[in-house]
Amino acid sequence: MSEHSANLSSTVAATGRPLAVKAVIPAAGLATRFLPATKAVPKELLPVVDRPVLQYIVEEATQAGIGDVLLITGRGKTSMVDHFDRRPDLEARLEEKGDAERLAAVRRPSELAEIYTVRQPEQLGLGHAVGYAESHVGDQPFAVLLGDEFVKLSEPLLPAMLELQARTGGVVLAFFEVDPADTKRYGIASVEPAESELTDIGEVVKVTGMVEKPKPEDAPSNLAVLGRYVLPGKIFDAIRRTKPGSGGEIQLTDAMELLRTEGTPVHAIVYRGTRYDTGMPLGYLQTVVQIAAERDDLGAEFRSWLAEFVKADAAGGSGT
Ligand code: G1P
Repeated sequence: MSEHSANLSSTVAATGRPLAVKAVIPAAGLATRFLPATKAVPKELLPVVDRPVLQYIVEEATQAGIGDVLLITGRGKTSMVDHFDRRPDLEARLEEKGDAERLAAVRRPSELAEIYTVRQPEQLGLGHAVGYAESHVGDQPFAVLLGDEFVKLSEPLLPAMLELQARTGGVVLAFFEVDPADTKRYGIASVEPAESELTDIGEVVKVTGMVEKPKPEDAPSNLAVLGRYVLPGKIFDAIRRTKPGSGGEIQLTDAMELLRTEGTPVHAIVYRGTRYDTGMPLGYLQTVVQIAAERDDLGAEFRSWLAEFVKADAAGGSGT
């Protein structure tokens, strides 16, 4: 299906260690924050303009050279997989009509990567979900991309993370700075400067501790874990040894912290680009507006409508 896997299985970083070539997208969650919209539609399929969130995430993996994507799915979520399948009946209709543009758009998801799935039968936490990837990824390093956030394609993050992991062989994270009042929504880390030989990759820090969703008064910093990870295969054993933590769930943060205390190096790239968080209604709306405003086809018209709307709203009208 894709040309990527063939090209990239032999990709080797400067150190001689191979770059991770598989990605895992945990997408089995219930999405209670979006009910009732997500009663029958997986939140990963909510549209951002005309593409579902999940397609942006798979495109981010593909852009980083990853051609093998494992979706961790659950009950009621099979339509996610259909999005990446061919749709011969629809394609034939578009071909008959000579609509080449829509035909390409319909085919594109199926051309991005090889898509595999595994089911997480009960939702016991992010660490628990990632544990289901073991038989697919084996003992090789792999990337994890959370199913409700993505970064701007022109400000990529994953390539540097893959390079960093190939050099350290350990756990690689990405951080973004949050308002100290918001630490209880994220994994939060304490850090120190990274070894000098790693700093050519980007703004790299060495992690000295991680805690999942601390209260602001307990947070070791305001550096939050972004939903991108590159993990060594030994994470699976650590997940098995991880007890339920924050929210009674088996947390990936706790499994990574366990590896760190046992001597696995943990580094992170501080990401200063644009992160879109579609996991909550407000972030989702912000994402739609930003991406729509930047689209070549409708951006100009949308921006001028938006400017008018804001102006009228500030003046006390509805703008519509
Ligand atoms: C998850 C992780 C958390 C991370 C966050 C990023 O939390 O557990 O460490 O900071 O994603 O979005 P969730 O959003 O699933 O509650």
